[in-house]
Amino acid sequence: MANLPPVKIGVLGLGTVGSGTLNVLRRNAGEITRRAGRSIEVVAASARDLSRPRPVDTSGIRLTTDPYTLVEDPDIDIVVELIGGVEPARDLVLRAIRHGKHVVTANKQLIALHGNEVFAAAREAGVSVAFEAAVAGGIPVIKTLREALAGNTIQWLAGIINGTCNYILTAMAERAASFDEVLAEAQALGYAEADPAFDIDGVDAAHKLTILAAIAFGIPLDFDRVLCEGIRGLELDDIRYAEQLGYRIKHLAFAVNGTRGIELRVHPTLVPERLMLANVNDVMNAVLICGDAVGPMLLSGAGAGAEPTASSVVGDLVDVVRGLSVEADNRVPSLAFQPDALSEAPMCPAGEIESAYYLRLRAVDQPGVLAEITRILGSLRISIEAIRQPEPAAGAATVPIIILTHTVREAAMDEAIRQIEERPEIEGRITRYRVETFE
Ligand code: HSE
Repeated sequence: MANLPPVKIGVLGLGTVGSGTLNVLRRNAGEITRRAGRSIEVVAASARDLSRPRPVDTSGIRLTTDPYTLVEDPDIDIVVELIGGVEPARDLVLRAIRHGKHVVTANKQLIALHGNEVFAAAREAGVSVAFEAAVAGGIPVIKTLREALAGNTIQWLAGIINGTCNYILTAMAERAASFDEVLAEAQALGYAEADPAFDIDGVDAAHKLTILAAIAFGIPLDFDRVLCEGIRGLELDDIRYAEQLGYRIKHLAFAVNGTRGIELRVHPTLVPERLMLANVNDVMNAVLICGDAVGPMLLSGAGAGAEPTASSVVGDLVDVVRGLSVEADNRVPSLAFQPDALSEAPMCPAGEIESAYYLRLRAVDQPGVLAEITRILGSLRISIEAIRQPEPAAGAATVPIIILTHTVREAAMDEAIRQIEERPEIEGRITRYRVETFE
């Protein structure tokens, strides 16, 4: 091993992931140096509040509350951005790049919304921007798609890519815990975003899907193309009814390169309980990828948390250090495809998306109501797979009705729901979730 000087790192942000990264770098310093060919030394770190107690040894590291001093520090080779959010992270990353520094980031929002700008700036400056930790925590899904599967045409991928949603759904199913109670647990464990609405409304998963789709299909990053639905308002009743039909409810992200164009969507989904994806629980994430050559393959692991996410950050650091001696144009392209080879593939129109559905409605318990509902579905060529009328609560004026449909076009389902909700025997709005059997 040549006797090269240490590579000097500045870390922006000493929260959950920042502390985890410092701990992993320190604990595994010997192995990391043997892999990278040089030692990796954190020389400076910034945090908003330096007096806050942290589970990390910061001795020998220059600490500051001003992240701007790090991105312009000539002594620093690589900036690790772990602040999150768009600003000031975007400004700091762009400044670091303009000052000739390589960047490692865990910031999915930044990459999903401003990645095109960040990568263009990095190309101009001849530096690398690595972001494995931005998607699925410790699972090396970006590296897998970008490098290991480079010989495939990626047909689709589907995954559980928000640990907080998975944690909440698992606790609701297993402990009948309330939504708010388990969200507070996920926050205390450091899984949730600073604004947990990003988790529960599907935005965080949509950021991650934007990144995965770009790398899988060679399309520019475009967050606005993702259909985004979260788990807010999901009821314990739906989890129970789904279980009775042999399904679990998971928050899934789908990227599909189909004959009608590209579909990008995140939403709660009923998955048959026998499938591996249905049994990925708590904060674990999993991504099922289907390449034309490799077929379907599943990656699974911790999707959030200090050290799993640090694992990806440090893996990126080693990659960047290994690439320091490589000409910028010869490094692995950030988005897997050469920057001038990204294509604007057409999107599948929303109404053309096909899926099976779970419907839950409440109706007056009188003759002819079910017949009317099935007539409406039949008139729109929606085929029913199962229909149930669970026992109503004592004294309830209406009864719940659960329907599973076969695959249907989204536009037909929208029209069916509109017509059924107009019926005077139907109470309130219809709850609907998509069903995916992966068959
Ligand atoms: N809030 C995110 C999650 C953290 O729950 O998955 C990891 O990106």
